[in-house]
Amino acid sequence: MTEDFDVRLVTEAKYYYPDPQYKRNSWMGDYQTAYKNFLADPDAFWSTMAQELDWIRPWDAVKEWKYPYAKWFTNAKLNVTLNCLDRHVNDHRRNKVALIWKGEEGRERIFTYQSLLSSVNRFANALKKIGIKKGDRVCIYMPLVPEQVIAMLACARIGAVHSVVFGGFGAAALNMRINDAEAKVVVTADITVRRGKAIQLKTIVEEAIINAPTVEHVVVLRRRKPMVDLQDPIEIDFDEIMEGVSDECPAETMDAEDPFFILYTSGSTGKPKGIVHACGGYMVGTYYTSKYIFDIKDNDIFWCTADPGWITGHSYIVYGPLAAGATIFITELTPDYPDAGSYWKLIEQQKITIFYTAPTAIRMFMKMGESWPNKYNLNSLRIIGSVGEPLNPEAFEWYYHVIGKDKTPILDTWWQTETGMLLITTVLGEPLRPGFAGKPIPGIIADVVDKNGKSVPPGTGGFLIIKAPWPSMLRTVYKDDERYRKYWYTIDGVYTAGDLAVKGKDGYIMILGRSDDIIIVAGHNIGTAEVESALVSHHAVAEAAVIGKPDMVKGNSIKAFVILRVGNQQSDKLMQELIYHVRNTLGPIAVPQEIEFVEKLPKTRSGKIMRRVLKAKELGMDPGDVSTLEE
Ligand code: WTA
Repeated sequence: MTEDFDVRLVTEAKYYYPDPQYKRNSWMGDYQTAYKNFLADPDAFWSTMAQELDWIRPWDAVKEWKYPYAKWFTNAKLNVTLNCLDRHVNDHRRNKVALIWKGEEGRERIFTYQSLLSSVNRFANALKKIGIKKGDRVCIYMPLVPEQVIAMLACARIGAVHSVVFGGFGAAALNMRINDAEAKVVVTADITVRRGKAIQLKTIVEEAIINAPTVEHVVVLRRRKPMVDLQDPIEIDFDEIMEGVSDECPAETMDAEDPFFILYTSGSTGKPKGIVHACGGYMVGTYYTSKYIFDIKDNDIFWCTADPGWITGHSYIVYGPLAAGATIFITELTPDYPDAGSYWKLIEQQKITIFYTAPTAIRMFMKMGESWPNKYNLNSLRIIGSVGEPLNPEAFEWYYHVIGKDKTPILDTWWQTETGMLLITTVLGEPLRPGFAGKPIPGIIADVVDKNGKSVPPGTGGFLIIKAPWPSMLRTVYKDDERYRKYWYTIDGVYTAGDLAVKGKDGYIMILGRSDDIIIVAGHNIGTAEVESALVSHHAVAEAAVIGKPDMVKGNSIKAFVILRVGNQQSDKLMQELIYHVRNTLGPIAVPQEIEFVEKLPKTRSGKIMRRVLKAKELGMDPGDVSTLEE
């Protein structure tokens, strides 16, 4: 085990007991009963869930499991947008608000289910007009505006496979993702707005497509006046191609196992993994968890603060909540702009009922002080959630007392890009335990094991694993199935998540952090190898090693050790240049907080850099076994 944890937390069980009305009024009802029902007949459980949705053709079998490959809802046909949009338009939700967006300076845009469907259909027809067909890949690199959601749903409408790239990635990161997916179209905007400032997105795309031979068109949403010029015939205006097309577009018939989207996530090599999700299972998983775990009701307003560029946004801004017929709220505002009360003010104004954010944001709110949330009325909140990294007990307590007013249950949800939906949490009504995400939800069998797959006793750290397939699991890694098999072959017969965890006697699971070379910085997964290869691509750098260091707000920060090539002198200027270089290639989210110039790096005899040793030295800890160390 590489991670330590505070044993007292595991032995001194502390619970908060939510008001029984939560359980009574929830879609799930009693957790234990629901879990037992699932275990008694897993296929029947998932079949019941799937039957709540619309299918063009029903399935022959709920699942087909040929280790390590699963198929769900075999031979069933569907289109996800029929469930997210048409289903509601054809019933009492036709004029219900589907989406509320807030921009800076009080700008607001509202879509009903009907108007969202019309926009989606028009953009779907526009994509067809420029040659996009079922199976083609479309890269979406956009700010957090309704058009980002519309572009995703439009792809889903016609069966195009979207690859959404978070707008905070730099040109090299974007280029790699475009090329790996062989995207035919990139959908972008001229600018993204961040704390009153415009950041140019389109210029990043221009650089990213220089060596991207598959890109035929760049569709640009022009937000600023006067509008930027577009280069004919490659660049096309977002609104213009929507003009004159029909607002009706037949939904493409998709097989349940057809690829739905690709989403890149960091792995242990410099090359991110294109996680592939399939239409049917993903739809069922995100719908089930939105309705039964987030307990979405018709009068809820659901605010997930993620960006649709991450899996959290895919599953709990777009597909899950819309399938459940929710009203979703999104904003381009940041928690600290125009001031540190911006989120609380939005909750008061919009009467948000379900708020889903990340520990890094919660810790930032803690730092800014409770006087900010205390200025606003947060009484509308009935559920508050967290995702992305461990919600440490201090942050849990603050969130529970200051935001939840000692009565609002916290859903600390553990999951991954690969899992598609949340898998572990404390279901509504169950006792909350600070520091612990909770238990596997009905539908999921999880455990903490040693490297041989043997269950470890409560209080002992181990690897978090999932024991059986679930509908929204990844199907493969795009063009690299070997990396897919690794999830199931690392420990024989089970899915290894790559996280370390510890179980309490009560079965509650505490997530300790990653067991591999991925650093979670402010909730974003960053591979040490990605940052190292960005650094090494700078002409002055011979070698680089990157570690994560604990950070009070961001969870971790990045520290890089750099060996310079002969003929280069270390200097502050060079350090700034390296930071600038990483920012431009990978993006601002991957920039090292610290760079230290060194002469040597600790390596094994086979030449592998021992980051563990670097980290231990940095944190003043015992580096452990260094017998294989060369230097
Ligand atoms: C971490 C985000 C502790 C974990 C949905 C996982 C968490 C990685 C939690 C996946 C949580 C996510 N408690 N750790 N509630 N949720 N993680 O792919 O290390 O961006 O493996 O998916 O985030 O990050 P990803």
